[in-house]
Amino acid sequence: MANIPLQLCVEVLLYLAGINGPFPDVVYEVNSSLNDTTIPDYVDCIFKRFDTLYKNGARYFVLMNTAPLELSPLYGLPGKGGLAASHYWPDKPANITEVSYKMKEYTQLVNDIYAYRTPYEFFMSDVYYNPAPYLSSPANVTGQYYLCDVATGSQCTSSNTTLDHFFWYDELHPSEQVDKAIAKEFINVVKGTSNARHPKH
Ligand SMILES: *[C@@H]1O[C@H](CO)[C@@H](O)[C@H](O)[C@H]1NC(C)=O
Ligand SMILES: *[C@@H]1O[C@H](CO)[C@@H](O)[C@H](O)[C@H]1NC(C)=O
Ligand SMILES: *[C@@H]1O[C@H](CO)[C@@H](O)[C@H](O)[C@H]1NC(C)=O
Ligand SMILES: *[C@@H]1O[C@H](CO)[C@@H](O)[C@H](O)[C@H]1NC(C)=O
Ligand SMILES: *[C@@H]1O[C@H](CO)[C@@H](O)[C@H](O)[C@H]1NC(C)=O
Repeated sequence: MANIPLQLCVEVLLYLAGINGPFPDVVYEVNSSLNDTTIPDYVDCIFKRFDTLYKNGARYFVLMNTAPLELSPLYGLPGKGGLAASHYWPDKPANITEVSYKMKEYTQLVNDIYAYRTPYEFFMSDVYYNPAPYLSSPANVTGQYYLCDVATGSQCTSSNTTLDHFFWYDELHPSEQVDKAIAKEFINVVKGTSNARHPKH
């Protein structure tokens, strides 16, 4: 995983979003100087990868925008599925409202910067707010299907409701149905038939 160059950019963002976590261990393994990075560094990181790919002959690019992580159980608001702690982030700060707001600022800022550089944008949050075409009814967009204990992450339970009802597989990762929606839109983008044009264009 750490060999994929883009992963490094993603880790910069996760580091920024968490400040004290999550995944600090992974980040420090990759680069112990990450504590000096900022959001513009993250965006530059992404576009530098594109420059490298371009130099190596690539000519067509699809940039996946940043997922609405503030809607995930890991970064969500209290009362909207937000968890007080998770095995991904056991020492999450007590004010999870503030964590969620911060994540919202970061993801929306990053996607807004992308919008000035790329013409299309598919919003995962469209699936969140309008799940009917994608998830089985009744849709569950706030909870996660699979949850492990905070302390060890090894005692896990799956919901008795089947996965096709869920937006989130676990507290951070979207479910298969959401991945399918993204894949379908991805094919439309490649074909040039996507309607997911960013309002700025
Ligand atoms: C770590 O990041 C800093 C700042 O982006 C960069 O100058 C440095 O080369 C990186 N180190 C490694 C080992 O990647
Ligand atoms: C940031 O990283 C540097 C090493 O690159 C370290 O000396 C410094 O203590 C770190 N600062 C914080 C706040 O973790
Ligand atoms: C938590 O953070 C929010 C947003 O910054 C703030 O409005 C609220 O007062 C904080 N709550 C506590 C208990 O500090
Ligand atoms: C959604 O799933 C969570 C479990 O992950 C559960 O606690 C919650 O009650 C569910 N919400 C609805 C509306 O079914
Ligand atoms: C699922 O159902 C079983 C048996 O009805 C119950 O013991 C278990 O607690 C349920 N799991 C969840 C996550 O609700």
